[in-house]
Amino acid sequence: MAEHVCPWWFCYTFDNPLRRLVQDPVSTLKPFVQPGQTALDLGCGMGYFTLGLANLVGEGGRVVSVDLQDKMLAALKRRAAKQGLARRIEPRRCSTDSLGIEDLRGQVDFALAFWMLHEVPGRVGFVRQVAASLRPEGSFLVVEPKFHVRQADFAAELDLMVGQGWEVLERPAIWGSHAALLRPLRQAA
Ligand SMILES: C[S@@+](CC[C@H](N)C(=O)[O-])C[C@H]1O[C@@H](n2cnc3c(N)ncnc32)[C@H](O)[C@@H]1O
Repeated sequence: MAEHVCPWWFCYTFDNPLRRLVQDPVSTLKPFVQPGQTALDLGCGMGYFTLGLANLVGEGGRVVSVDLQDKMLAALKRRAAKQGLARRIEPRRCSTDSLGIEDLRGQVDFALAFWMLHEVPGRVGFVRQVAASLRPEGSFLVVEPKFHVRQADFAAELDLMVGQGWEVLERPAIWGSHAALLRPLRQAA
C-alpha cells in the first residue's frame, strides 16, 4: 500500500464515539441526501459516514462504499450488520487506478470524499470517475481535515476540479474541515 494512505489502525484515532460530538454523520450530511437516493462513500474507511448515509437514504436507498483496504471494509461490514443496515450498503474494494464504479454511470445522487482526497495520487482520474457516476443533478462533497491539509492545498484541489469542469456550489461549514459541494458542468469523457 502507498505510504500516504491512512493505515487501518489509525482510523480508531478519529473514528470513535467522541467524533459524534463535533461531526455527527447524520446531521452533517442531512442537507445533501434524500430518502431513496443512491450515495457513494469514497474512501469510506470503517464506515463512519456510510452508516449515517444508510440512515439518510432509508430502506429504499442504497450506499456504495469504496475503499482500498480490506480491513476497513471488514470493520464496515461488522458495524453495518450490528446496526441492521447491511442490506442498504454495498462495500467494494477498489485499487488506486480504478474505483470500480463503472456500473454506476449516471446513477449516483450524492458522492462523498471525507478526509481522503489528499491520499489520492491520481486526482484527475479519480474525479473523472466520480463525475461519470453522478446523475445530472448529483453532487459531490469533498471534505479535508484542517489539521492535515493546508488551506492552500485544499484550494489547489478545488482548482484542479474546476479545471476538470466542476463548479463549486457551496462551501458548507463542517467542524475541523475545509469543505466544498461540487457538481460537474459537463460529463467526463
Ligand atoms: C483518513 S481515512 C477517512 C475514512 C472515512 N472517510 C472517515 O472520514 O472516517 C481515508 C480512507 O481513504 C482510503 N483511501 C485512500 N486512498 C484511496 C483511494 N485512492 N481510493 C479509495 N480509498 C482510498 C483509505 O484506505 C482510508 O480508509
